[in-house]
Amino acid sequence: MKKRVFSGTRATGRLHLGNYLGAVKGYLELQDNPDYETIYMVMDLHAITTPYDKEKLAENTRNVVMDYLACGLDPEKSIITAQSLVPEHTYLAHILSSEITVARMQHLPTFKEKVKQHPDHVTMALLNYPVLMAADILLYKASLVPVGIDQEPHLEVAREIGRHMNEKFGTDFPEPKRFVTKGEYVPSLTGEGKMSKSVEGSFISLTDGSETIKKKLSGAPTDSGRGEKVPEKGGVANLLQLVELFEGLENRKKYEEQYLGDGIRYGELKAELAEFIFKELEPIQKQRKVYENDPSLVDRIIREGAEKARVIAGETMKEVRNKIGLIK
Ligand code: TYM
Repeated sequence: MKKRVFSGTRATGRLHLGNYLGAVKGYLELQDNPDYETIYMVMDLHAITTPYDKEKLAENTRNVVMDYLACGLDPEKSIITAQSLVPEHTYLAHILSSEITVARMQHLPTFKEKVKQHPDHVTMALLNYPVLMAADILLYKASLVPVGIDQEPHLEVAREIGRHMNEKFGTDFPEPKRFVTKGEYVPSLTGEGKMSKSVEGSFISLTDGSETIKKKLSGAPTDSGRGEKVPEKGGVANLLQLVELFEGLENRKKYEEQYLGDGIRYGELKAELAEFIFKELEPIQKQRKVYENDPSLVDRIIREGAEKARVIAGETMKEVRNKIGLIK
C-alpha cells in the first residue's frame, strides 16, 4: 500500500508566500512522487475557530482551492477538497478529544497566541483545534505532512494521540512526520515574526500584481545599509532571507558583502526582489484565470475529491468504532 500524505490550509482567503513556500511547494513535490497518495484540503472547520464572516466563508474556501489548482495541484494525482464535506473529520475528532486532557491543549503556544489575538472568542472549538487537526491526519493514516515549522507543536499532538490510540485500542496509526521544505519559515515584511494572514502588511498574496508587490516591499523596514555585522533579526535579515528564497544563495551573499562594504542600496534590492517574486507568481496567476472562469469545474473537483476522501475516511472510522467498543 502507498504511504499517505495529508495537508491543508485554513480557509482564510488567498494564499500568501508563506503558505506557498512552506506548504504548497511540499504538496507539489509529494504529489509527483509515486510512492505517495496525496490528500490536500481546505480546512474550513478550522477557519471557524476564530471570528469569521459567514458571507465569505464558502468563497474563501473556493479561493484556496483555486490557488491550489493554479499552483499545480492536480485532481488526477491528488484528492483535493474541503474538510467540512467529509464529516468523518469531526466524528474522529470527538473520539480523539476523549483521549487528551484540557491542560495539554491549554499549554500549546498556538492556543495561547490565539487567546491573545481574540480574548473575547476563546471557544471550545479553539481549544480543540489541535485535536481536529490530529483527526485530519490520522483519519487518512498519513505518515507525511507537508507544513511550515509553525505547525510542529500541532504535529506533536497528532503523534501523541496516535501513539496513545495505538497503545490503548490497538489501532495502527503511523507516526506522522513533517515534510520539510526550504521555505519552512517565511519571514514577515514588517520585520517581525513570520509572514501571516492575520498580520496586516506582513504578507504578499499569490494573486498580487507586480505593482502591489513593489509597494508592499517598499514598506519593509531597513537600516542605513551598512555595518560591521549582517543583522540576524529584523527587517534587513527578513529581506535577505526573501532574497535567498527567491533569488538564491548567491544573490544573498552579494548583498551581505555589500552590507559589510560600500553598503546596500535597498531601493535596488527591493526592485530586484519584486521582479523575482513576480516572475514566480505570474504563471500561477495566469493559470488561476482558467479556474476563475470555470467555477463549475472547481465545484466538481471539490465534490469528487470529497467522495474519494470519504471512502478512505469511512474505512478508518469503521475500524476505530470497532476498536474503541462502540455498538456494532
Ligand atoms: P495555515 O492555514 O495557518 O497555513 C497553511 C500552511 O502554510 C504554512 N505557513 C507558513 N510556512 C512558512 N512560513 C510562513 N510564514 C507560513 N505561514 C503559514 C503553515 O505551516 C501551513 O503548512 N493548522 C493548519 C491547517 C491544518 C492542517 C491540518 C495542516 C488543519 N489541519 C492537517 C496539515 C494537516 C494551519 O493553520 O495552517
